[in-house]
Amino acid sequence: MRAVDIIQKKKEGRAHTKEEIDFLIKGLMDGTVEDYQMSSWLMAVYFQGLNEDETVYMTEAFINSGEILDFSDISNTVADKHSTGGVGDKVTIVLIPLLAALGVKCAKLSGRGLGYTGGTVDKLESIPNFKCQLKDEDFRSQIKTIGAAISAQTPNLTPADGKIYALRDVTATVDNKSLICASVVSKKIASGANIIVLDVKYGSGAFIKTKEEARSLADLMIKIGAKLNRKIEAVISSMEQPLGTHIGNSLEIIESIEFLKGNHNKDLYEIVLEIAGRTLILANIAKDFNEAKNLIDEALKSGTALQKLKEIIEAQGGNSDCTENYSLFNVGKNKVEIKAQNEGYVSKLDALNIAKACKLLGAGRDKKSDSIDFGAGCILNKKTGDKVQKDELLCILYFNDVKKDRINEAVQYAQKAFEYSVSKPEIQSVLYK
Ligand code: URA
Repeated sequence: MRAVDIIQKKKEGRAHTKEEIDFLIKGLMDGTVEDYQMSSWLMAVYFQGLNEDETVYMTEAFINSGEILDFSDISNTVADKHSTGGVGDKVTIVLIPLLAALGVKCAKLSGRGLGYTGGTVDKLESIPNFKCQLKDEDFRSQIKTIGAAISAQTPNLTPADGKIYALRDVTATVDNKSLICASVVSKKIASGANIIVLDVKYGSGAFIKTKEEARSLADLMIKIGAKLNRKIEAVISSMEQPLGTHIGNSLEIIESIEFLKGNHNKDLYEIVLEIAGRTLILANIAKDFNEAKNLIDEALKSGTALQKLKEIIEAQGGNSDCTENYSLFNVGKNKVEIKAQNEGYVSKLDALNIAKACKLLGAGRDKKSDSIDFGAGCILNKKTGDKVQKDELLCILYFNDVKKDRINEAVQYAQKAFEYSVSKPEIQSVLYK
């Protein structure tokens, strides 16, 4: 078998056998298939797609490229959650300590930023000294002792997805249903969790643009999970506007801490409640949604969820003083205020344009090897449906050392992100299904 023939086959739109997918993934891991060949194949998949069988083969090949964790000696209900990616999506950072505070063991495997979407690992690394590169034994023992750990894919867990994820990020091959499905489902299965809840996002700031496509991705992930003997639940939510008010690595951690202190943004609260509620019911900790909501609200009000975040930070080498002293974070030393160009209502706040502004200021990567500036980002003062006066503050862009032309371009994207209407627009729930 030769990689070039497999690329040619997909270019012509023909379906692969299990052996061909295994050959490619094994080759990528042992170096006999080069990154440029894999990138070329990914682009062929982007245009020609993978059928359900090929998606199962790819998911299995990812899982088998590393080891599969087993937590049955710790608990028979271990939860994991995954988002298909969004702008300002800090759900994991509040959800995991919240669930752990309520007694659900959480084995959370997270990724880095991808395309214009942020990544939990990058966000957590903005906490001084926080380490996401956990060894398998440390991941396990932390789950045992404090109930939760959030780790980057360890070198041993779905390493093939790790490599392909990084290639997709810089070759414009992220937004393909089968590739997203194999990437997400393989990680969730390898992480050893038996309660898997997915947050499938659609809209301007997501890889999937429409509700219908999100529904079909959710269905595919549930189906592939079932073929591999895992029950997966999915929530479908909107990413038309950024989630919450803060976008960018340090800024999102600060918003998450504020959330756990009781300062809830409504949209973020709605998603956290839905995912946490479902998980508590699946874990037999709550018998229905009402009971789950009471438990969640109590954990937020009493401070036990915040306390759990501090424990996770300390266990992973970070300095939990940052939860009280935000000056420990790198937040951009420079600011630009974006003001309303019209009066009326914000009829649209485009997540992708805000993400582009933040990326230009350093919050994301252009190349695999780029480092990011944790301090770059944006705080929104207005969101869709809010009334604005002309020249009122819409948002503030934060950055450190950025070239003037990039700042100007970022300002243009931020201004373009806001659209106005004379009458109040109809506001839809962030949760679709
Ligand atoms: N998140 C992942 O882990 N993989 C994808 O492909 C997209 C989002």
